[in-house]
This record gives sequence, structure tokens and C-alpha cells, in this order.
Amino acid sequence: MVGCCQPEAYERFFGARQARLDAGRYRKRGLGGTSRCLVELAGDVSETTVLEVGGGVGAIELELLAAGADRATNVELSGQYEEEAATLLAERGLSDRVDRRVADFVSEPVAPHDVVVMHRVVCCYPDVDRLVGVAAACTRRRLLLTFPQERPWTRAGIGAINLFLRLTGSGFRAFVHPFAAMRAAADREGLSLERRERNGLIWESVAFVRSSPS
Ligand SMILES: C[S@@+](CC[C@H](N)C(=O)[O-])C[C@H]1O[C@@H](n2cnc3c(N)ncnc32)[C@H](O)[C@@H]1O
Repeated sequence: MVGCCQPEAYERFFGARQARLDAGRYRKRGLGGTSRCLVELAGDVSETTVLEVGGGVGAIELELLAAGADRATNVELSGQYEEEAATLLAERGLSDRVDRRVADFVSEPVAPHDVVVMHRVVCCYPDVDRLVGVAAACTRRRLLLTFPQERPWTRAGIGAINLFLRLTGSGFRAFVHPFAAMRAAADREGLSLERRERNGLIWESVAFVRSSPS
């Protein structure tokens, strides 16, 4: 099973081809529906700092910078996104406002940021309590998450994906983690649930907001 110390499984699964596809899709069509929902849940981001964990090519932070955020940091376990991400940043003249790091965020957490985003990341990490707990501890204002709904069909879909991954020798696994576990981890770090939105039949997005000083 993949853990925090096996980034090569993520490098293989989230590879250069995926990065090219993501960057091309973003150039052509902008953000997809669930990403747009997270940007909306972020609220007013003027003069904030943004941390995107597992941000891939970094499309959400680009939108938040365009919406008024000052600076962004992207911590991504797979190094395969860096080339496409650098090209997107250069195209938009934003290279000097984004700090990109290739690291496991859980074992190498970063300094607190105002807004922390994890879009479709919780489902790619085995230890939901640690991932959300570390993200919440890094959040000064708002933590935004997208993850698969706890439904029979998402469990069946992810079970089928994991079977395929096992049969093909991949060490990567996906997860439908309970929302209660995310909420407990956020609560413990002084965040409370602000909004919860369903995005169709698969994904849901939530905003946690800081209710006590960090
Ligand atoms: C399904 S992809 C989503 C990428 C991007 N957020 C998007 O929605 O297009 C999940 C990403 O999370 C990254 N990831 C998972 N666990 C991580 C961790 N502990 N630290 C940093 N990145 C992580 C993976 O490498 C992968 O690129």
C-alpha cells in the first residue's frame, strides 16, 4: 500500500501525460465545475496567501491569484506537473507569485496560509486524519476540500479502480474517506464547517472556517 514515503507510485500515476492533459484542458475550457465551486467557496481572497496541496498544474491557485490573492504556494507529491505548471505561470506572467514545491505535504508541512485548497486530494491519500489535520493546522482563514461523496456507487467505482491498480502492479490506491473523519480533524485544529455542497453524483466540496486563532 502506498504511504507518505512512496512518491514514485504517485509519480507514475500522476505523470507527464496527465499534466499535459490537465494544462491543455484548462487553457481551452478554464476550470471545471467542481473547481469553480471551490473558487466560489473561497469567498473574497483579496490580499490573501493561498496554499494548494496536491494542486497538479495549479489551475485553482491561478484563478485565486486572478481574483486578488497576493501569493500562492503549491505542494505536490508528483514532480511530473512542474514543466506544464511553469509554462502556465509564464503564460500568465505569474511566475514570481507562486512557490512550487515537490514534497509530501504531510511529512513536510509548510507555514500557515490564509486559504488552503485540496481539490480531489483527500481521496488520493491513505491517512485522512493526518492529511486534513496538517492542512487545517496550516489554515489561517479557510480550508477548502473536494472529495468523493460517501455513496455506494463511489465506493464501487473506487473499488473497481483499486482492483485494476492492484492487477496492473500499481502501488497507488484511491479512497472514499468518511466526511466525519475530515470534520473531526478540522475541528481539532479550531476550524468549523461553513458550507457543504454536492457537485453532481460523485464529488462534494466543503469549506471549513477558522473559529479560533491559530
Ligand atoms: C487526483 S489528483 C488532483 C490534482 C489537482 N488537484 C486536480 O484536481 O486536477 C491528486 C493529487 O494530489 C497529490 N497528492 C496526494 N497526496 C499528497 C500529499 N500528501 N502531498 C502533496 N500532494 C499530494 C497527488 O500527487 C496528485 O497530483
